Amino acid sequence: MSLKNENTKYAFKIFRFDPDLDKAPRYDTFVKDCARGTTVLEALLSIQEIEDDSLAFRFSCRSAVCGSCGMLVNGAPVLACRTQLSNLIGDQVLIEPLPNMDVIKDLVVDMKPFWNAYRKVEPWLHADEEKEPKKERHQSPEQVHKLDPYINCILCASCYGSCPVLGMEEDYLGPAAIAKLFRFMEDSRDQRGETFLEKVDSPQGLWACHTIFRCIDACPKDLRPTDTIEALRRRLIKYRFKKFFRLVK
Ligand code: FES
Repeated sequence: MSLKNENTKYAFKIFRFDPDLDKAPRYDTFVKDCARGTTVLEALLSIQEIEDDSLAFRFSCRSAVCGSCGMLVNGAPVLACRTQLSNLIGDQVLIEPLPNMDVIKDLVVDMKPFWNAYRKVEPWLHADEEKEPKKERHQSPEQVHKLDPYINCILCASCYGSCPVLGMEEDYLGPAAIAKLFRFMEDSRDQRGETFLEKVDSPQGLWACHTIFRCIDACPKDLRPTDTIEALRRRLIKYRFKKFFRLVK
């Protein structure tokens, strides 16, 4: 239970940078009284409305669904819309953009590398088009439950921003894309087969992960991308053996 009063004075130290105007990033500090229950996103909206309308950040749903408001708060990747100030330690709130992507302005990052990696895993159902069914492709409840943990990804890029490997290897696919590939390869309706794993059998694909588990800590939906990377690695090794012994083409 929080011991903070109904209203607490917070100092928000916010990363500011406009590459078109600024030579270097800076931090601006705004001090505000916030009521209990105020989220980081609400505080940012209030700062933008009252103190500085040039402050840039992304949001949309305000309910942890759209994944737009990923950012670093006190050094940890979070969704601003579901992070209450009263759950943070202390009254100093450091707000920065997600790492591993270029800053477009303030807290808005260029997510092109994230989406490019995502596209590479072809994140859609590869059904057998020649056998187009006359009705829906049914799945049993068990087959659906198997996918449940991976369907919840909202593509907020918190895992991508927190992955230390991406800081060294910018062409790495990243945890979200690989978790999405796993989600489709586990889907009983997907027909892409293990040969598809060859597309991610590279130093920038499945083998880039150093198994540091930051993506698991970062995920606001409690997904475990590292586990999917490990599972696909095991599957890929089996596939390589089968291929070596000519058990598959
Ligand atoms: Fe949609 Fe935060 S605004 S997830």
